[in-house]
Amino acid sequence: MAEELTEYSGPATMEKITSLAKRRGFVFQSSEIYGGQSGAWDYGPMGIELKNRIAGFWWKEMTQLHDDIVGLDAAILMHPRTWEASGHVENFTDPLVDCKKCKTRFRTDMVPEENLAKKICPECEGELTDSRKFNLMFKSHIGPTEDNAGLIYLRPETAQGIYVNYKNIIQSNRMKIPFGIAQIGKAFRNEIVTKNFIFRTCEFEQMEMQYFVKPGTDVQWFNEWKKRRWAFYEKLGVKIDHMRWHQHGPDELAHYAKDAYDIQYLFPMGWRELEGVHNRTDYDLTRHTEYSGKDLQYIDQDNNNDRYIPYIIETSAGLTRTLLMLICDAYDEEKVDSEKKADSSEGTVSGSEASADEMRTVLRFHPVVAPVTVALLPLMKKDGLAELAQDIRSELKEDFATDYDQSGAIGRRYRRQDEAGTPFCITIDYQSKDDGTVTLRYRDSMEQERVPRAALAEKIRQEIKGYKRGS
Ligand code: GAP
Repeated sequence: MAEELTEYSGPATMEKITSLAKRRGFVFQSSEIYGGQSGAWDYGPMGIELKNRIAGFWWKEMTQLHDDIVGLDAAILMHPRTWEASGHVENFTDPLVDCKKCKTRFRTDMVPEENLAKKICPECEGELTDSRKFNLMFKSHIGPTEDNAGLIYLRPETAQGIYVNYKNIIQSNRMKIPFGIAQIGKAFRNEIVTKNFIFRTCEFEQMEMQYFVKPGTDVQWFNEWKKRRWAFYEKLGVKIDHMRWHQHGPDELAHYAKDAYDIQYLFPMGWRELEGVHNRTDYDLTRHTEYSGKDLQYIDQDNNNDRYIPYIIETSAGLTRTLLMLICDAYDEEKVDSEKKADSSEGTVSGSEASADEMRTVLRFHPVVAPVTVALLPLMKKDGLAELAQDIRSELKEDFATDYDQSGAIGRRYRRQDEAGTPFCITIDYQSKDDGTVTLRYRDSMEQERVPRAALAEKIRQEIKGYKRGS
């Protein structure tokens, strides 16, 4: 077995990722013109495409490829009793201390022990307050008055919307245990520390799936879902040596969990949680039975109408955190040496792609998640090449996300597409007018080949299907 990596040694830094994300329209600071809103980020044209594709890939994996999983889109605002039942009102807290002098707020577990013991601020050496519990749920009021009758929470996890609907789904969709319910949606947490770009934010998105099983089969299903979730990232081509399991110790387990494993990813700032797989037992449904007074037992019609509260195996991934992980994972810088220059003698685009020793930044996204799949680049704007490129674009756009770029030297245009992670560029040149062929250029290898226009769509489809990331 290969030795586990201890620290990140790739070319990315969080500064480079943040700056590329802004430059190429992936992620912008929220309300930037007012100085920014901490804990919140906006997803630009590339970011929303990437986010939608990750969500689509996860959704397909969970629902289309699993006959026993159906989807749900529950409201963010839920009856406040939900959060009493779920234990979040009581337990969803972080310990915090404040500095009386510089007013910085710290999560207690992030302050060095000697500072805590002496109550000295690690930033300014001012005096720290005693540690106290801080509930991470955002509160608001529904209706015209701001009293407790209208108290409402922004959901801190999407899971509860699934639990309160599980009986509706059994009845409407004739589901039989074991079965799952998948949901993607926003969640909100008043995080004390938000840093590392979009890693930990106050507003974020989750992709959660709750799998309802018979008590006694939970350990077997827990192990099965661990395997399936690992395979999901393998399928996306994520660097496997940047992933590992971390089992929660007794101090880390959430109030609802009997066992929990995180998939951690090696980000530029170190190993961090990406997704959790949790055995939530019958905790949630038992509590909702108690608080709602409704019978939430499952009736097993195939087994003498046996009744029981199902156990729940949860897989919980952050969508926005997965987006950050995929950008970090895809990020590469490489020297574009003379061997990799475009070769005109092979009938590909004439002129070199880069001068020797130039560096390129490239996002090696799997094509299924790349924001743009194909970019159309006419070699010249004139002589009908632009019109021909637009014509090919309209043919391809029914099947693929396309972009069009006619400005600047061809090498610079390739660089722009590399930075945005576009796996295929199609260059239209004078030969295209004569014989109906175009140049297909591959992002990872920068190799080029001539392909007849009529064969393009099928060729790209096959390339996506058989994609293996080269480095
Ligand atoms: N329903 C279980 C649950 O919410 P969690 O470990 O608190 O479990 C699951 O969160 C995932 O949601 C995390 O692994 C992470 O990917 C994402 N996540 C949690 N808090 C986040 C935050 N403040 N910002 C971005 N993503 C977050």
